Amino acid sequence: MNSKVYIETFGCQMNVADTERAVTGLRKAGYEMTSLPNEADVVLLNTCSVRERAERKVFRRVSELRKSPRHPVIGVMGCVAQLEGSSIFQRASAVDLVIGTQATDRIPSLLARIRDGEESVLDLDERQEGEVWDVSPAERRSPYVAFVPIIEGCNKFCSFCIVPYSRGREKSRGANEIVAEVQQLRSLGYKEVQLIGQNVNSYRPKTEDGLEGYAGATAFSRLLRAVAETGIERIKFTTSFPRDFHPDIVSAIEEYPNLCNWVHLPVQSGSDRMLKAMRRGHTSADYLRRVEIIKSSSRSLALTSDIIVGFPGESEQDFADTMKLVRDCEFDGLFIFKYSKRSRTPAANFDDAVSESDKTARFLALEELQIELQDKTYNRQVGRALSVLVEKQSARSNEDVSGHSTCNKVVNFKGNTTQRGSIVDVLISEAKPNSLYGTAISG
Ligand code: SAH
Ligand code: F3S
Repeated sequence: MNSKVYIETFGCQMNVADTERAVTGLRKAGYEMTSLPNEADVVLLNTCSVRERAERKVFRRVSELRKSPRHPVIGVMGCVAQLEGSSIFQRASAVDLVIGTQATDRIPSLLARIRDGEESVLDLDERQEGEVWDVSPAERRSPYVAFVPIIEGCNKFCSFCIVPYSRGREKSRGANEIVAEVQQLRSLGYKEVQLIGQNVNSYRPKTEDGLEGYAGATAFSRLLRAVAETGIERIKFTTSFPRDFHPDIVSAIEEYPNLCNWVHLPVQSGSDRMLKAMRRGHTSADYLRRVEIIKSSSRSLALTSDIIVGFPGESEQDFADTMKLVRDCEFDGLFIFKYSKRSRTPAANFDDAVSESDKTARFLALEELQIELQDKTYNRQVGRALSVLVEKQSARSNEDVSGHSTCNKVVNFKGNTTQRGSIVDVLISEAKPNSLYGTAISG
């Protein structure tokens, strides 16, 4: 069999990692992959449902694909598949296959059922015994940076968020398996691993296997030390949940130079009233205490966050509290989202919706503030030397290359593509709105 499969991936890093895993399984089963949807016999859309706009995109894409002369088999995988289930067949009759978030490893057998004549195939079941993360290096998106999932799902049920419904309960991978994967990636020449999960610091494996002998106040900080001991050059991790952010994470970073100096800690709001309605389990003071610990580290850690504006009931005063918190935290980067109602979540039934125009006004005001603050934080890097993993040629200039610093900022400098995959010290000379520019002083 030489059917060609094309996969389009939307949404978060977990979806990127799921696609890599799906491709590994499909190749093993004899499928070829293609980057051209027009020549594919099977098209899979790996979908996101965190915000309404992301969800609508899927159905738009299905109707475009339906017109493709080759009439490919169309499958929907990811969060929209898990949430909408069989109703997708009604809403978009061109879809043949609905693959839930835990059915990634079963895609080849689901496709075989279509080939055998079944018209609509659905799998929303849980992962089965013996299904483990298996990603072939050939399928990784980058030859230098690898995503390594350590925990799937979420138990937090923030009132606005669909993830606990689309991804199920938290399930942590065994530490032995994670460490072995990182060791293998290192021996293959990967320079950086990003440990990923909805909440990495809620990591709670079934057993201590692989963590024995490592000090640490939480299983996550023991895991960080175990992964650091593999000697891989750089380790990043995302996302951290504020309530579970233990100071020992910062201690681990201070002990191991290969744990990078960046923490992504979504706050969502600066108003205690909103944080309570969002069911975040932390107040703004709790959050600021964590920020204090992060900012007082000897490693000068970069801090980034997420904020939702226009949550139901958010008053001008609540929003002013968010502006104040953002000013106090001076984030190195901020993702701002307008609240988007997700059916099934508790907040979908909350009163006092904020008007679209107020949401937009707050979004723009917060964005303007962040631009002003980021200008300050980025300019503070001027005159410093940052260690940069060279990833690609810069999009702006043929003479420049581009990569990320250990503090996860984009850095461009004069260089050539033979440097890809190497780590170079760059003296920063200029700060731009979302990147830094400098000159190589090593490598
Ligand atoms: N802990 C998760 C959060 C997942 S969702 C993680 O791994 O990043 C990512 C971000 O999307 C959230 O932090 C939140 O700011 C935003 N978000 C989630 N649900 C939303 C909604 N209903 N409306 C607007 N933004 C939302
Ligand atoms: Fe969503 Fe809150 Fe979990 S934002 S992913 S329910 S921590």
